[in-house]
Amino acid sequence: MESPSIELGPVESSARGALLSEWLRRPHVARWWGEAEAALAWSPGEADGSGESFILHDQRPVGYVRWQRVLRCDLDAAGLHEVPDGAIDIDILIGEPELTGCGVGSRALSQLLERLWRDPSVPLAGMSASAANESALRAYEKAGFRRRRAYTDPRWGPMWLMIAERADDPTRSRAIDSPRSK
Ligand SMILES: CC(C)(COP(=O)(O)OP(=O)(O)OC[C@H]1O[C@@H](n2cnc3c(N)ncnc32)[C@H](O)[C@@H]1OP(=O)(O)O)[C@@H](O)C(=O)NCCC(=O)NCCS
Repeated sequence: MESPSIELGPVESSARGALLSEWLRRPHVARWWGEAEAALAWSPGEADGSGESFILHDQRPVGYVRWQRVLRCDLDAAGLHEVPDGAIDIDILIGEPELTGCGVGSRALSQLLERLWRDPSVPLAGMSASAANESALRAYEKAGFRRRRAYTDPRWGPMWLMIAERADDPTRSRAIDSPRSK
């Protein structure tokens, strides 16, 4: 049987609230995403380098991914001093529980990375995942992220910072392999 198509599609404002609030309240998502209100209130706005997409499975929205440039102050507050300016932070969810573990999340992330690398100002993309969120860690690795380092988030506990770098630029790897002294 042919594998389903996975695409990143526009987030229509008419569907956004209903779909996202349904997905964010489902236990398999709520456990890792925290308050639905904050996620619903977020919008890419005019900010440079940010965006959001529905994840389409055979054209049907089944998940959501958003990305934004990380603020230097947030990185420093989390002790992530080595992550360079301009880095993109990504959040993802597959809202339909029966479609988790089927490769949808990792395929969607691979497509997002391809899109992000078209912008030469993006040095790397990062994702944070709880050390207990095995399926997220595995999905991110399948999409090309690697575990950069473990840290402890005051709210979420032990976490992994996962990063992906543009494959065709060896100078980028050196940038992150030389942590700046605090
Ligand atoms: C995290 C998430 C986006 C991953 O998307 P996905 O479509 O389920 O991921 P994939 O199917 O591409 O990959 C998951 C991998 O983890 C594996 N996996 C699932 N449960 C696992 C577990 N308990 N231990 C180890 N591996 C596990 C799957 O087998 C699969 O690997 P494989 O293809 O090598 O078999 C999705 O599961 C999700 O939305 N979860 C709820 C919300 C969430 O956790 N969001 C991210 C954190 S904010």
